[in-house]
Amino acid sequence: MGHVIAIDGPAGAGKSTIARLIADRLGYVYIDTGAMYRAIALWAWRTKTPAGDAHKLEQLATSAEIGLHPHRHVTLNGEDVTDAIRAPEISAMASQVAAIGAVRLALVSKQRELARHENVVMEGRDIGSVVFPDARVKIFLDADPSERVRRRAGELPDHHHTTLATQLAERDHRDRNRLESPLLQAPDAVYLDSTGMTMEKVEEEILAIVRAKISNGKG
Ligand code: DC
Repeated sequence: MGHVIAIDGPAGAGKSTIARLIADRLGYVYIDTGAMYRAIALWAWRTKTPAGDAHKLEQLATSAEIGLHPHRHVTLNGEDVTDAIRAPEISAMASQVAAIGAVRLALVSKQRELARHENVVMEGRDIGSVVFPDARVKIFLDADPSERVRRRAGELPDHHHTTLATQLAERDHRDRNRLESPLLQAPDAVYLDSTGMTMEKVEEEILAIVRAKISNGKG
């Protein structure tokens, strides 16, 4: 088993940016578990599988060959789906697909496999709470909803912000309130509110946490 640094938190808190920076810094492999849920959602969307068809979704999740490559490139059954999985309708579908226990079981087992031989920085919603309860370092990265919308909105014109805010709030609500592995802070995770902080500052704080945990010899 490699070492695991788990970074959980809601959408737009800066997890991906930070997880990649930390992985680069430490020479760990970066793993975006959200991309895995998105890949299943894309496949479901294309095959017109309804979000309520748990059995079919489980089959898709077990048989999917999901590749996570450098520079956030993602493949599904050999096809490059890097951009396709980021479409707004796939984001919404991913959050619904992620509420299904059998889908989660299939993807969690793939996630555990990925850390079997390598050190990883893994980001998601349930990494510290469910996937790796014994992770060496656990961070719960949060930010105010308005700041999370701003970060997600990037260069989009202002009138798109309201739509984005509504979509983000819906996904958040579903991710926090589902029965299976809801988004929550593991009791032993370090809570970090990145509101108003630059990514450099967040990186600095997390590296300090990582160093403190590692020198304590935990995990
Ligand atoms: O991080 P993201 O926005 O790409 O995640 C897409 C969806 O997948 C999101 O609605 C939450 C869900 N997800 C999850 O339930 N568990 C994870 N470990 C990662 C993502």
